[in-house]
Amino acid sequence: MQLLDGIKVSNAILEDIKNEVDSRIKNHKKRPHLAAILVGDNPASQTYVGAKVKTCEYVGFQSTLSKLADDASEAELLALIEKYNNDADIDGILVQLPLPRHISEDKVINTISPLKDVDGFHPVSIGKMVLGQDTFIPATPNGIMMMLAHYNIDTSGMHCVVIGRSNIVGTPMSLLMSRNTNPGNCTVTMCHSKTKNLKEMCLQADIIVAAIGRPNYVTADMVKPGAIIIDVGINRIEDASKKSGFRLVGDVDFEAVKEKSSYITPVPGGVGKMTICALMKNTLLACN
Ligand code: GUN
Repeated sequence: MQLLDGIKVSNAILEDIKNEVDSRIKNHKKRPHLAAILVGDNPASQTYVGAKVKTCEYVGFQSTLSKLADDASEAELLALIEKYNNDADIDGILVQLPLPRHISEDKVINTISPLKDVDGFHPVSIGKMVLGQDTFIPATPNGIMMMLAHYNIDTSGMHCVVIGRSNIVGTPMSLLMSRNTNPGNCTVTMCHSKTKNLKEMCLQADIIVAAIGRPNYVTADMVKPGAIIIDVGINRIEDASKKSGFRLVGDVDFEAVKEKSSYITPVPGGVGKMTICALMKNTLLACN
């Protein structure tokens, strides 16, 4: 078994981005600027946005973090997005999801200018991705593709089972893995909460991408020997021995599954790191 080390891979890619920013500045080009918006006080979202802002700093991007209260109105959020759409200094806009229930995620995503849609969630970005046109690709699936590419894993002809059909991960991941690219060229099965024979599906998989959001859901008896395991889950489970009172586990029962797999991503230190890295790449792209 080989660990797919998100820390190592993302550090290497972030170093390249940092060098590119340095060279931009030497050539009197604009410093990339990401505007991040966080609504409410969801602790996980606070952590993710904090990590994104910190990484911006690391690679030399400017960042602006706007925090809105949990009861901020939809109109207030849309107005802030419009302000950033019209601000020539802002290259990328990110609204951390999920949003409080009284705010329509669709309306919010549709309001972000496709030119600044570094999350790749706008219908224009998704449409272009489906058609294979140049666009912003959602960060988590893009980070996974970058990870597979970094390890030179040839996925051509493999059966990839994606568990989860979210707009953010499962749906774009299924599409990217089925495209005529490398990594890619897979036969893809997208499974979800209504899939009846999930275990049988998984046992046929050469690659499993687990994006369900349930701790330790993929167990060793669901995995074919030699399969590649990509764990997208970041679940908090109570752990009194930790100062925070919790620890992070993935959607995969790592300790048991690692024995059967050829490659596996750890949690933390796997896909999460790659997601931030892919966001930084998109922000750099948005500045060009
Ligand atoms: N929530 C979970 N993943 C993401 C992501 O990639 N971007 C944003 N904006 N919110 C998220």
